[in-house]
Amino acid sequence: MSQSHETSQSQETLSNLLQETRRFEPPAELAASANVKAGTYEEAARDRLAYWAGQAERLSWSRPWDEVLDWTDPPFAKWFVGGELNAAYNCVDRHVEAGRGAKVAYHWEGEPGDTRTLTYADLRREVNKAANALLELGVRKGDRVAIYLPMIPELPISMLACARIGATHSVVFGGFSADALRTRIDDAQARLVITADGGYRRGKASALKPTVDAAVADTPSVEHVLVVRRTGEEVAETERDVWWQDVVERQSTEHTPEPMDAEHPLYILYTSGTTGKPKGILHTTGGYLTQVASTHHSVFDLKPETDVYWCSADIGWVTGHSYIVYGPLANGATSVMYEGTPDTPHKGRWWELIEKYKVTIFYTAPTAIRTFMKWGDDIPAQHDLSSLRVLGSVGEPINPEAYVWYREHIGGGRCPVVDTWWQTETGAIMVSPLPGVTAGKPGAAMRPLPGIGADVVDDEANPVPNGGGGFLVLTEPWPSMLRTIWGDDERYVKTYWSRFDGLYFAGDGAKKDEDGDIWLLGRVDDVMLVSGHNISTTEVESALVAHPKVAEAAVVGATDPLTTQAIVAFVIPRGDAGGDVEGEDFLRELREHVARTLGPIAKPRQIMIVPELPKTRSGKIMRRLLRDVAENRGIGDVTTLADSTVMDLIAEKLPGTKSEG
Ligand code: WT7
Repeated sequence: MSQSHETSQSQETLSNLLQETRRFEPPAELAASANVKAGTYEEAARDRLAYWAGQAERLSWSRPWDEVLDWTDPPFAKWFVGGELNAAYNCVDRHVEAGRGAKVAYHWEGEPGDTRTLTYADLRREVNKAANALLELGVRKGDRVAIYLPMIPELPISMLACARIGATHSVVFGGFSADALRTRIDDAQARLVITADGGYRRGKASALKPTVDAAVADTPSVEHVLVVRRTGEEVAETERDVWWQDVVERQSTEHTPEPMDAEHPLYILYTSGTTGKPKGILHTTGGYLTQVASTHHSVFDLKPETDVYWCSADIGWVTGHSYIVYGPLANGATSVMYEGTPDTPHKGRWWELIEKYKVTIFYTAPTAIRTFMKWGDDIPAQHDLSSLRVLGSVGEPINPEAYVWYREHIGGGRCPVVDTWWQTETGAIMVSPLPGVTAGKPGAAMRPLPGIGADVVDDEANPVPNGGGGFLVLTEPWPSMLRTIWGDDERYVKTYWSRFDGLYFAGDGAKKDEDGDIWLLGRVDDVMLVSGHNISTTEVESALVAHPKVAEAAVVGATDPLTTQAIVAFVIPRGDAGGDVEGEDFLRELREHVARTLGPIAKPRQIMIVPELPKTRSGKIMRRLLRDVAENRGIGDVTTLADSTVMDLIAEKLPGTKSEG
């Protein structure tokens, strides 16, 4: 720690402890042929709206817009005012019309190993049939359709069919309970639910239909349930059920898309956050499609003719909406889509798929990367991953050690890693390196993309100086921004636009390093207050993960009579750690290691060795539950846990917990 830290820290909003000096220049060849070069930052800064108007030209508009942005009633934005376009036409038809009908849109792979290849021409036929079926079932422009499907081709087909007729889709992740599904159906007043008998997960058929039956028992808005036969397992049938195979298959393969207003609601996606009722994040058509197409092109350097792109997310999350469906299809990309889990039938399944389809661009989450680190380097080493050229990360701060592992063991040391910061609310990537421009720093999301305004501010909304920490804010409206929370404008204003006047509050802690580059430091609700210092969970976790014997770590602040809060860490050792990873010596070694890396202030009071960490279904660590453990309380609400047995596993470890004062 430098002198300035010691003296000014108590006034700082968030401490800046971690120093990282590794740099990775873009590969020369990639830099030379990159889609976006350094000059674009300046060009966009000179005239932001002209830049976005230029990006909107990536799309085919049925009617040109009159005005790029209407921001006369903030925070309610209108982008490309007066413009008209159809999202499904832009994602499908126009590629076929341009002679690219035979190009593969999706190489789909089921978990049991069955495959389907959908060209753009195939996709057009399927989307048209589904659109005609929706119309036959009474769905009209402006209606809402809930989609509760596994990762099968009918999922993007259903979304595009909705977009084609102007129905607003609300995709609900297939792992959610009947209660969660019912709340979301009710909130959006969905007229139709599209589901399947089930899907394949971890080597067996996993039913979905019974959950839908339970959910719609009490949802008067739902007229029909459209069911895809995927697993062939028997399901209970009710009068409102119709089979996809009966209704969709017999439809005409022709359908004329109807142009939609640029601000027509494209979809609602619910985000739960930490408290309260889920928020229905509303995205509209023109601005959303512009920014997902633009960023998919710039951040991944997509060359649609030669690249094979794979985003491993589930389409039930925004990552899948923007970077499996709308962005890649708008750009005419060829993508891989995979139904199942990474360890079925073996722990090398993903690397096998990269080898099989010669994937060139791969986009995944830090939680997956840390899991692969835990499973061992030898697993990816058994596969030829030499087709890869760009790697992406999203969902959480990526620890420097995980970044370097990803770069080395998946990227063969030659692929740039783009750490992309964004949210369900932002709709598209906001802060990220550009693979042909940026000298990457492991752990940093770096800079706002061209045309985006982001900053780090203190409690009073003043930008922090380089080297300082605070709150990440967005300083300008952006095309793919949420337009509101469905049915609750007031909550929209209160949640995002009230903390700082005129700025969008993202809820994330961040710092600017000496070069002014941005590092994300975790949710501000998780920041720990230790002896007057605001310490980021991310920095302490990254320090722990940098220890060669640590695979994963989660850190929380527990109430402490002396220091307000004290740092308590939960650590999963690496599979190959060896030795006594539960003993006093190892725990002391880890505590000293953190103190050496970040300074004595960040030394954990207590470290617990655990077999697993509690995570949400999208892979985010649930620190709230770990705080309950650290403070010896009963465990709170676990309904959003991906695996409900994890807290029992952790509780079992408690009697053996080692602590030092
Ligand atoms: C929150 C948004 C964006 C799609 C997936 C998650 C965290 C996301 C990063 C990153 C640090 C990140 C933030 C953000 N987050 N990407 N690259 N570095 N943190 O969407 O579920 O709406 O979550 O995820 O905390 O606010 P989401």
